[in-house]
Order: sequence, then structure tokens, then C-alpha cells
Amino acid sequence: MKYILSFVLNGQPVDVLAEPTDTLLDVLREKLRVMSPKRGCDEGDCGACTVLLNGEPVRSCLTLALSVAGQEVMTVEGLSKNGKLHPLQRAFHEHYAAQCGFCTPGMILAAKALLDKNPHPTREEIVEAISGNLCRCGTYQEVLEAVQAVARGEYAEVKE
Ligand code: FES
Ligand code: FES
Repeated sequence: MKYILSFVLNGQPVDVLAEPTDTLLDVLREKLRVMSPKRGCDEGDCGACTVLLNGEPVRSCLTLALSVAGQEVMTVEGLSKNGKLHPLQRAFHEHYAAQCGFCTPGMILAAKALLDKNPHPTREEIVEAISGNLCRCGTYQEVLEAVQAVARGEYAEVKE
């Protein structure tokens, strides 16, 4: 049986048909064609499918789609404003924090959740925040440097 699932995706209300066994990752990628959340392990281990649910990072491969009814989901597609990249996106780019890019959306969203709560985290706090996001290309140092640069205020917020 299918249900109409209504939630807010990147600030816009969406309605989509979903089955009780569909994960949020299934719905985002296969029904809504939002492709930044990646299907890595599909069992909660890699963090590549990370999205923000009401501002908190969650594994979309472990989140049942129907459980997000009425809630706010953010993916990397929702970060840029008026065609301008979010400070974290610019910092990742300029610090070479993405190689193949498979882990990058999840890394950026994990970092965003941290900085939204704690704009000036310590190195250890950043490491902790991204510790659930695996990078097979080994960009951890570059990711750390990019997040630290944003935390130091080197990348201005995009104006509305
Ligand atoms: S695809 Fe969800 S944690 Fe790996
Ligand atoms: S940049 Fe390739 S997995 Fe992280």
C-alpha cells in the first residue's frame, strides 16, 4: 500500500507516494530525484546518505520515509542561495576537501549541523562531528581544515 507523504524538503513542501518500507534515501533519490544523499553501505555505517532532519544529521538509509511526515529535511541541494554556494561548500572546494566527492554531501551536512549549534568548535569537536562519515579517499585532514576555516569566519555567509 502507498501513502501520500508530505514533508518540507529544502524549504519547499513536497508530497510524494511512499510505501511503509521505503527509506528516506529511497524516496529522496528514486522518487524525488534528489541525488546528493549517496547510497554507500545502505546499512548505517558510512554516513554517505546523511541528511538533516529538523537540523540534526540522520542516516537517510535507516530512516523510514513515512516517519518524516510534517518534518523538515535538508540536503546539500538546499544549501546554496541565489546561486551562491554556502560557506562550507566554498571552503570544501578551496581546501580540496572533496576528491571523488561521494562522502562530501554527508560531510558538509554533518559540519553544518555542528556549526549551526556551535559556530566556534574545537578541533576535537569537529572530528567528533564528522566521525560517522567515512571517506575512502582519505580527505579527513582537508575536511577538518575547511570546517576550521569556516569556523574562523574566513567564509562569509551568503546574503539573501
Ligand atoms: S548509506 Fe546510509 S550510512 Fe551508509
Ligand atoms: S572524497 Fe571520495 S569518499 Fe570522500
